[in-house]
Amino acid sequence: MEPRPANAAADAAPNAVPDDAVSVRDLEDLAQQMLSDRTWNYVACGAADEVSLGWNDSAWRELRLAPRVLVDVSGVDTSTQLLRRRFAHPIVVAPTAAHRQYHPDGEGATRRGAAAAEALAVMSTLGSTPVAELGTAADGPWWFQLYVQSDLDFTARLIDDVVAAGAEALVLTVDTPLLGARDRDRRTSGHTVDGLLPPALAGVPPSVALPPNPRPFERIYNPHLDPSLTWETLEWLVDRSPIPVLAKGVVRADEARRCVDSGVGGIVVSNHGARNLDTVVPTAQALPGVVQAVAGAVPIVVDGGIRRGTDIAKALALGAAAVMVGRPVIWGLTVGGQGGVQWVLDTLWSELAMAMGLLGAPRIDDLTPDLIWQ
Ligand code: FNR
Ligand code: LAC
Repeated sequence: MEPRPANAAADAAPNAVPDDAVSVRDLEDLAQQMLSDRTWNYVACGAADEVSLGWNDSAWRELRLAPRVLVDVSGVDTSTQLLRRRFAHPIVVAPTAAHRQYHPDGEGATRRGAAAAEALAVMSTLGSTPVAELGTAADGPWWFQLYVQSDLDFTARLIDDVVAAGAEALVLTVDTPLLGARDRDRRTSGHTVDGLLPPALAGVPPSVALPPNPRPFERIYNPHLDPSLTWETLEWLVDRSPIPVLAKGVVRADEARRCVDSGVGGIVVSNHGARNLDTVVPTAQALPGVVQAVAGAVPIVVDGGIRRGTDIAKALALGAAAVMVGRPVIWGLTVGGQGGVQWVLDTLWSELAMAMGLLGAPRIDDLTPDLIWQ
């Protein structure tokens, strides 16, 4: 599978993004200009003082590369295996809520843009598109990110609907029993997510019943998020699901090992884009410990601050099988709809191919830890 040439992004749907855009960050300011303050602050916010939001980005940047030389890289091949499928590249669309906030075509545009860029897409429980439409929106493979509800019968029916719609794996988010101190979001929205009515959760009772006059500390819970989730829930889901279950939101090596023992099909090293718990470890620093503890038992995906092809190369050199990108896909969707999503993924794909060539790593398996300067 040959990667697209460096100007591949230009092949995206016409007028998807401005001609002078060359890296995914070029779309960040454009997206901010196009979205309301309320929506932008929901997208951009990190928790509290946004220390970990900065760490997520800088931790990748601070990893130095030690390229090999005099390697024939005339045939760079970015293809890789993830669960039962072979993909053209290891770049996955992270699950993010309510895409109709960003573009009227919503998750359908994201699915089509991802498929056009030969990328796997993970759709959120809090998406703005009915589950049945997620399957028919595009031909490409997709996974479903699950927020388990306290009504497990409802959750079981949702799983059945998702499997019937064609999702090839479930991604259980385990790091969000409640939303964090999203100050930037709260200044302009009062928890935008509260205002979203996700079709997948139509009719479900709230996962937590607030008292009639909740005191401030009792307002920390969110109706769509079950704060009572435990390891038993993960084991129930693994047993209940006919498709593989990945755990998303793990940063600790001991808990990654416990996830494997619980039967997961994969692990996503994530801190939820630094949106929940401030000063949580950045994912670039958490990844090596998880890789060592899992010891190849299941594939490991990592997200958080991935903005460049070199970030992707570093993640794979540290042992990840793939990366997920969240905000950049939202920027692309906002600016150019499905063409903008395709452009973001094609741009990262091209940058990864360039990085592999310059690292003397023509195949994904050639991305090894020695490429990170110790
Ligand atoms: C998210 N994320 C997220 N995760 C999840 O499991 N379910 C969800 O519904 C959402 N929603 C969501 C909305 C927005 C606006 C953002 C920015 C993020 C987290 C997401 O899947 C991923 O972990 C991070 O976005 C990765 O970090 P980057 O790429 O945004 O830096
Ligand atoms: C968020 C939730 C919806 O990060 O996962 O906004």
